Amino acid sequence: MDKLVIEGGVALRGDVRISGAKNAALPILFATLLHDGVSRVANLPNLMDIRTTLALIGELGVNTELDTISMGRMTAVPPGDMPPPPDTAGRAVEIDGSRLSSVEAPYDLVRTMRASVLCLGPLLARTGRARVSLPGGCAIGSRPIDQHLRGFERLGAKVELDGGFVEAVAPEGLRGARIVFDVVTVGGTENLLMAATLAQGTTVLENAAREPEIVDLAEALRSMGARIEGDGTHRITIEGVRELDGMNHDVMPDRIEAGTYMAAAALTHGDVLVKGAKLGHLDALIGKMAVAGIEVRREGSGLRVRHHGELHAVDVDTSPYPGFPTDLQAQFMALMARASGGSRVTETVFENRFMHVPELNRLGADIKIRGNSAFVKGVPSFRGASVMATDLRASATLVIAGLAAEGLTEVRRIYHLDRGYETIERKLAGLGARVKRVPQDLMVSGFE
Ligand code: UD1
Repeated sequence: MDKLVIEGGVALRGDVRISGAKNAALPILFATLLHDGVSRVANLPNLMDIRTTLALIGELGVNTELDTISMGRMTAVPPGDMPPPPDTAGRAVEIDGSRLSSVEAPYDLVRTMRASVLCLGPLLARTGRARVSLPGGCAIGSRPIDQHLRGFERLGAKVELDGGFVEAVAPEGLRGARIVFDVVTVGGTENLLMAATLAQGTTVLENAAREPEIVDLAEALRSMGARIEGDGTHRITIEGVRELDGMNHDVMPDRIEAGTYMAAAALTHGDVLVKGAKLGHLDALIGKMAVAGIEVRREGSGLRVRHHGELHAVDVDTSPYPGFPTDLQAQFMALMARASGGSRVTETVFENRFMHVPELNRLGADIKIRGNSAFVKGVPSFRGASVMATDLRASATLVIAGLAAEGLTEVRRIYHLDRGYETIERKLAGLGARVKRVPQDLMVSGFE
């Protein structure tokens, strides 16, 4: 296992290109299973979760993993056996859904990536049956999938839990229905959206999630001939069709990766052009950054982020899109930890999503948790320390905090980072950061 070693104190400067969005790519890759032939998905980020998804899709075609999926220079490798990511940004993948021969997603793959449950909708819609191990993934709260399962039942499927597996069957096919989600769920909306494309008749998803990743999935599905309206609003209407064509789609840029580099630029008093970052996807972050005194402006096809002087304290509450994203809560808290004055950061989407707080405090932050709020008292500086990454976004936060700390910071257990940030140390080094990836047990006393 590796760790990142960071020598803080360098203001980030230059350009960084944002990769394709992990959270859009995952459902889009699973959506290719809806078609009995070849689909093409481009602008894929080179990430562990993408490789896990491709490995899972490979598992669904007996003995034909690499024939079923031909992936340019990228190969499906089982998790745990990962080579370091090659520098091949913006890959495309072709997936041949005609070789589908299994509808079971095994525990070994699902446990490493919770989003594996997104194969349920496409498999059920296409074959009338799906069996998926109950998910693992980031340890942020209990994260149930009841809304997905209840939705499948509304579409006429019989859903059972059996020996750690979810089994859904619909021998006569799915029938369109009106589904009202009890909570706004991104994955639930995606799973039901995919399932409904091949259901008989009309499906209406009420209280649907509005995230840009949902719109990107809907666009990918429309490229297959799906009839979908209202994506990006609370009500999505899907007119089922008998079959879908191949998909041809470029994945949207990753707004969370973009937001993370924006926070890093501001925290280090830098000046960075975040190429590919979309203003319209990041309104909530940019609004809060403006109050904090951070300059963000559109430049070409990206956003320039600049900061010097003091950061002002500002309160933040996470909520579903277009609210402040829970996936940027930790990174924003790192900013507030260095602001002048006190702020409150409240997490309303997930329970147990403050695992970065004790680690930030090890770097010298002054943050106290009460219930689902963190009370942050700004400090003038961070001091380098050895910290442990606990989930994907927490890991990224510790890295950017390390960039702004005095001395050396070691971020351990970075396998979480590799699930969501393509070549983060190379992108940061390109901005002038002093950061390197070394084996976890190697002692590093400085940068040569
Ligand atoms: C997705 C994102 C994740 C992001 C989250 C919220 C992917 C792969 N992951 O996760 O990065 O943090 O959206 O923006 O896209 N819930 C239920 N029942 C359900 C489903 C969800 O109660 O059946 C609850 C969850 O416990 C949570 C809330 O709804 O409290 C939101 O979860 P959801 O939007 O489903 O998150 P994911 O799709 O898992």
